[in-house]
Amino acid sequence: MTNTIVVGSQWGDEGKGKLVDILAEQAGTVVRFQGGNNAGHTVMFGDKKFILHLIPSGILQDNTKCVIGNGLVVDLEALIDEIKELADLGINCAGRLFISDAANIIMPYHRLLDKAREERLKKNKIGTTGRGIGPAYEDKVGRVGIRFADIENNSIFKEKIDHFVNDKNLILQHVLGFKGPFLNSDEVFEQLLTLHKELEPYVCDTSELIAEDMKTGQHILFEGAQGSLLDIDHGTYPFVTSSNTTAGGACAGSGIGPCKIDKVVAIVKAYTTRVGEGPFPTELFDDDGKHLAKVGQEFGATTGRPRRCGWFDACLLKKTVRLNGFTDLAITKMDVMDKMKTVKICVGYTDKSGKKYNSLPSKQVLLPELQPIYEEMEGWMSDTVGITEYDKLPEKAKLFLKRIEDLLEVPISAVSTGPKREQTILMNSFF
Ligand code: GDP
Ligand code: IMO
Ligand code: MG
Repeated sequence: MTNTIVVGSQWGDEGKGKLVDILAEQAGTVVRFQGGNNAGHTVMFGDKKFILHLIPSGILQDNTKCVIGNGLVVDLEALIDEIKELADLGINCAGRLFISDAANIIMPYHRLLDKAREERLKKNKIGTTGRGIGPAYEDKVGRVGIRFADIENNSIFKEKIDHFVNDKNLILQHVLGFKGPFLNSDEVFEQLLTLHKELEPYVCDTSELIAEDMKTGQHILFEGAQGSLLDIDHGTYPFVTSSNTTAGGACAGSGIGPCKIDKVVAIVKAYTTRVGEGPFPTELFDDDGKHLAKVGQEFGATTGRPRRCGWFDACLLKKTVRLNGFTDLAITKMDVMDKMKTVKICVGYTDKSGKKYNSLPSKQVLLPELQPIYEEMEGWMSDTVGITEYDKLPEKAKLFLKRIEDLLEVPISAVSTGPKREQTILMNSFF
């Protein structure tokens, strides 16, 4: 029995969904442990394409159990829609999907607050997904959140909702300048009860369920959302999401002890992308950047926004190797660079005065002036799409991978050569 955490090593959208789907075939249970429907995890096989937002990507394997852990913030409507969409495609969640009774709910006012605050911040906005993630986590930490276990059809709970809706309406109107329409607490209460009723059969103590599954000797896979540089503590603050996206979050967000974890796998895009605002030293504004965006089809799986694109940044990766304690790397989207004459890897930065940095400084004001120091390598200029054996990769592509492995001092255990399940090279076992 092996317990493996999969996390994004950059700013998200590295291809976590694809790898989790493949690994889930061997896992008894797949657990999401943080985030919410800000995530968009794509899985493709045959002529089918699925984008999962809240439900673990393991749901597409026939016999895998899926857990929405206590660390998530859950939009009830979005989850019901996702269950229905899967049902329309012939995938039944009943008996396979389990939702933690301690997971917090994204309330309608969280979505309004998220959007109104972004509007208010204007130039300083974060570029959130607008899903209410930040406000929901704020309420969780402020101990004024609502968990699945708290939802009751009684007057005490109704009074609580009245207070919350009233408070948020005041903030929306008087602090954020929101013009309405404002929420009606009776309607919010009724809607909450109706949506909760639909989801109630899935709700349980998932920490207990995971512990039981571990006892029976199943492999457990923990599916991270977002990326390590979006981590609330360790990411490029304040341009981050509101949860711990790094591997440490898996224990708190699913209710298991740290000694149970055996492997931590990094999903690493062969270049870098970012959606939303925030620093991005290797961002490209030239034809190379356009090429990566076009060939890599770099549009957000949740909001459809174009993703900013740039070269691979080994400095940032070295940091996320340290933050997560990665045991394995899975490199994705190398095929996107098949036609590039030169490929680059950032190995440091210089500021205006010529001072060198080996890692990204924390001081935000310094970041815009940093220039990347690149190592250049010859591109492999041949087709790698769909290759399934490492030895069949072009020699120059292997050199690129070897350089990443040497810089990061972590072995590469998988290389993804296309969006589909079968377009993958698996070199080592993940369990
Ligand atoms: P996630 O959020 O980390 O699960 O990643 P997304 O699904 O948001 O974005 C990754 C995108 O790249 C999806 O459209 C995938 O289908 C696609 N993808 C994943 N791996 C590869 C790969 O190796 N090559 C190519 N060309 N596309 C890939
Ligand atoms: P997956 O799991 C890429 C980004 C948003 C914004 C910041 C904060 O698909 O990799 P939020 O709505 O979370 O408050 O937004 O985080 N962001 C993501 N970027 N992939 C994601 O998820 C993301 N989830 C949030 O664009 O910059
Ligand atoms: Mg995504």
